[in-house]
Amino acid sequence: MLVSKARAAAFDVLLRIETTDAYASELLHSSGLSKLSASDHGLATELVMGVLRWRRVLDQAIAEHSSQPLTKLDLEVLTALRLGAYQCLFLDRIPARAAINESVELVKRARKSSAAGFANAVLRKLSQASPDLLKFPICSSHPAWLVEHWHKTYGATAAEKICEYDQKPPATDVRVGDSALLTEVRKEAIALEASDFLAKSFRVISGDITRTAAFRERRLTIQDEASQLVALLVARGSSILDCCAAPGGKTRIIAEASPDSEIIALELHPHRARLLKKLVPQLNVRIIAADARAMPLNKSFDVVLVDAPCSGTGTLARNPEIKWRLQPADLQRLQAYQIQILASAMKHVAPGGRLVYSTCSLEPEENERVVEEGLKLDRSFSVMPCGDELERLRDSGELAWKDMQSLLSGPFLRTIAGVHPCDGFFAAMLVKH
Ligand SMILES: C[S@@+](CC[C@H](N)C(=O)[O-])C[C@H]1O[C@@H](n2cnc3c(N)ncnc32)[C@H](O)[C@@H]1O
Repeated sequence: MLVSKARAAAFDVLLRIETTDAYASELLHSSGLSKLSASDHGLATELVMGVLRWRRVLDQAIAEHSSQPLTKLDLEVLTALRLGAYQCLFLDRIPARAAINESVELVKRARKSSAAGFANAVLRKLSQASPDLLKFPICSSHPAWLVEHWHKTYGATAAEKICEYDQKPPATDVRVGDSALLTEVRKEAIALEASDFLAKSFRVISGDITRTAAFRERRLTIQDEASQLVALLVARGSSILDCCAAPGGKTRIIAEASPDSEIIALELHPHRARLLKKLVPQLNVRIIAADARAMPLNKSFDVVLVDAPCSGTGTLARNPEIKWRLQPADLQRLQAYQIQILASAMKHVAPGGRLVYSTCSLEPEENERVVEEGLKLDRSFSVMPCGDELERLRDSGELAWKDMQSLLSGPFLRTIAGVHPCDGFFAAMLVKH
């Protein structure tokens, strides 16, 4: 029996995620998978994201019916079991027999034929027992330490909301600057509605936006609303430095909103700097591949953005593999790196200029603590309330969200995935006196 293309693709992607540091969203949009039909691509995506979102629950269900501890299983066998278990437990429209048979075939395809009988037995027992998914609390498919951390930081209700949000496919938001583009996209059978925060952001209700001419020609990009909002905090000033710029979502908005500014976009990795060139076509942006901790620049800027590399815990609905890779000690390691970048960026802010420090992390270690350390390193900076800038965006018609206070945590901007209808983002604004 042949394995279906969608399941074979899902299996290969899952295996690569387990053995490398690749991201599911990148692998699912790589050229290898572009040959799949739209429906096969849709199923492969659902299987990969579903297995990653529910991995811990799937492993518990598999362990209940396995004669061997999961740690003793070959990764190929465990991956085929997870795929089979996900279909049996979560996808009503797929008959259990098809799911089981294909997982057994995947085990053989991976040259683990001696485990085919074992995989068959585990999945048959699991599908017959049909465990009650309600017995798994909503937070049980997250690492316990992370849930505890959110519990301490945001309280029990918010921690549950974050977990709930992470288990579903997030909304797809696009920024559409003019009404002609909106009409063009709608003509391609894409249903869009206004998103929650921003006047120029739209949510895709149905249709595949990635197959439209506007998306292919990069006249339109997919970007979460919270990320758009952070970019709008920056977009003011005649010289702007974006220190950690790729793939370029924020640079693009900054350049659109400030067409007369001189903008420099810096990125450490040359291959990501090349990606930035493709995504940011505006002529007022100069792209440099360099380390933000040692910038090859001898000038200061009106505004500097540090959109720091971070754990990404505000984006787990989009990048569920992160929750299985992240370890508590990573937060301290990331913090040290973020402080180095922030300290270097502070040296390039002109007197009277502003610095925006942002992350898509929910963790105070990577946010408030980094800002505190930065302020200790250079006493000529102080914190500016983000609320003032949000008011400006509301008055100019950019910000449509009514409950502005809910976006603020003291002087900082703070969105929490699940509490707000978007990814979790943090932004602090500093001013140099
Ligand atoms: C959170 S992402 C930036 C996202 C981007 N601002 C956007 O909106 O599309 C962080 C970026 O910083 C880059 N980076 C990591 N370390 C860096 C460093 N030392 N200097 C410059 N860029 C760095 C990463 O490669 C990554 O592309």
